[in-house]
Amino acid sequence: MKNNPVVPYILIFALGLGLIFFMSLWGADQKKEIAGENEDGKTEDTAANAEEFDPEGFTQQKCISCHGGDLTGGGIGPNLHGLSDSKETIHDIIKNGQNNMPAFGGQISDEQIDQLADYILTLK
Ligand code: HEC
Repeated sequence: MKNNPVVPYILIFALGLGLIFFMSLWGADQKKEIAGENEDGKTEDTAANAEEFDPEGFTQQKCISCHGGDLTGGGIGPNLHGLSDSKETIHDIIKNGQNNMPAFGGQISDEQIDQLADYILTLK
C-alpha cells in the first residue's frame, strides 16, 4: 500500500468528495437564509402596500366627481364634511353603496375602506 502510486489520487478524490458534500450543506443553509429573506421581504411589501393607501388621494381620484373637489358637495353627492354618521355607517355606505352612491367594496379592501371612513370623519 505504501508505495502504491494510486494512493495520493484516492486521497485527493476523497478530499474532493468531502468538499463537495460540505459545500452542498453550506448551499442548502444559504438557500434557507435566502428563502427567509424573501418571506420577510413579502411581509414588508404587504405592510408597505397597506400603508401606501392614501385615503385623501383616493377620494381625489374617485369621489370628487360627485362630492366636489373638497368633498363639500356640489355634484350629485352630498357634503362629506361634518357627517354625524358613525364610522360603521360610513364604512357600509362606501362598501355597499346607497341609492346613487356607488359601491366601492369590489375595488378596495375593508381595511382601506376603514381608512377612508377615518379620513372622512376628520373632515369638519
Ligand atoms: C357617482 C357619484 C358618487 C361617487 C363617485 C361617490 N359618491 Fe358618495 N354619495 C353619492 C350620493 C348620490 C350619495 C347620497 C346617497 C343617498 O342619497 O343615500 C353619497 C353618499 C355618500 C356618503 C354618505 C353621506 C351621508 O350623508 O351619510 C358617504 C360617506 C360617501 N358618499 C362617500 C363617498 C366616498 C368616500 C367616495 C369615493 C370613494 C364616494 N362617496 C364616491 C354619490 C357618489
